Amino acid sequence: MKGAARQFFILAIAYAVVGMALGIYMAASHNHAQMPTHAHIMVAGWLMSSVFAFFYHLFPEIGARPMARAHFWIQAVSGVVLVSSLFVLLNGTEAIEPLTALASFGFLAGMLVFIWNALPVLRTA
Ligand code: HEM
Ligand code: HEM
Repeated sequence: MKGAARQFFILAIAYAVVGMALGIYMAASHNHAQMPTHAHIMVAGWLMSSVFAFFYHLFPEIGARPMARAHFWIQAVSGVVLVSSLFVLLNGTEAIEPLTALASFGFLAGMLVFIWNALPVLRTA
């Protein structure tokens, strides 16, 4: 794997380890208060980053473009801020909510950049 594919796969693995550790903590402590954080780390983090990684791996000419790198950084920074601030929010610090909201829009922006990058594939299908 190269370029954005490799970056996304490394990020996916990091999300998987952190998300599963949180899941095990939740199960062991019988405290499921962080369920939305765990769910988003696993699905929006591990699964989505894996999909992006395999997309850019399947279409390496798209994965090598600067826009694929841009996509990685927007999705990675907003995603990590999203789940970290959600963790803090669900721990009772409600003042952090505007940061979670901002990160949500960043995460959506990342998805829009991905769709833009993926358009040539749809056109040639
Ligand atoms: C070490 C492995 C894992 C453990 C110990 C674990 C643990 C948990 C726990 C305790 C809950 C809360 C259940 C509840 O309160 O109803 C939960 C929910 C959830 N987990 Fe995991 N989990 C693991 C792996 C995964 C994986 C691999 C995924 C997805 C790829 C995942 C996705 C979810 C989702 C989406 C929810 C929310 C379910 C709902 O909305 O009802 N988890 N998990
Ligand atoms: C813009 C970013 C996102 C925002 C603001 C957002 C917001 C939310 C909210 C408010 C809930 C309800 C939580 C609750 O009832 O406690 C939720 C649940 C959920 N979301 Fe998201 N979401 C986002 C992105 C995603 C993405 C990209 C995925 C999957 C790829 C996803 C998967 C889920 C799942 C599986 C649940 C159910 C688990 C649970 O209840 O905790 N979300 N989301």
